[in-house]
Amino acid sequence: MSHLDPGPIGALKLAPSLLSADFGYLAGAAQLVDEHVEWLHVDVMDGHFVPNITIGPPVVASLRRHTERFLDCHLMISEPRRYLEAFATAGADSCTVHAEVGDVAAALADARALGMRAGLAVNPDTPFSALEPHLADLDLVLVMSVFPGFGGQSFMPEVLEKVTGVRRVIEEEGLSVDLEIDGGIDVETAPRAVAAGANVLVAGSAIFSRPDPVAATHALRIAASGE
Ligand code: DX5
Ligand code: ZN
Repeated sequence: MSHLDPGPIGALKLAPSLLSADFGYLAGAAQLVDEHVEWLHVDVMDGHFVPNITIGPPVVASLRRHTERFLDCHLMISEPRRYLEAFATAGADSCTVHAEVGDVAAALADARALGMRAGLAVNPDTPFSALEPHLADLDLVLVMSVFPGFGGQSFMPEVLEKVTGVRRVIEEEGLSVDLEIDGGIDVETAPRAVAAGANVLVAGSAIFSRPDPVAATHALRIAASGE
């Protein structure tokens, strides 16, 4: 399976979270927005690392047949290394693992060895120090702005300081790393996240719970661009 180009590192990217779509209509939801966005965000939950169960590799494989958009898979699972190969085979372009599960360096190396981009996520209460040793060996940092598990939660502004700290290190060290924020992103919070240094915006309910998801992607981009 060859993997898609993520687009320019550091450029503004929208990544609608399919978690807030109708799972009985997943391909349609993906196709509805995919021309209007850079990535599609796939929330994988195992009922162990987080108290919810969602999507696994077979669903990613099905989605892959219906969209050519970059599939940004967010693995909220306790044992990501067991499943990275299955996600790569299914057509995931990127896999992001959580720092809280441990064995991070090996998971990032595995993801890259499988031809995917490698991301590292941190929960709102996980400090920057959990990311720092890995920054040279990854493609994406994901700062959670809610505790993972469910869509539709309120944005936690206290994580913005961490976003700014990560962006500073990316700039100072000239790293080719995208900086993504996930949780409670909407037209109000997107500009704050971008001002803090995020360049990939995940949004679930602000897109798929709106009456017109395509219009919602445009509104989010305008808000994020400060236009
Ligand atoms: C939360 C997920 C998020 C979530 C975002 O556990 O990782 O991607 O779907 O949903 P909203 O945008 O509704 O907060
Ligand atoms: Zn997510």
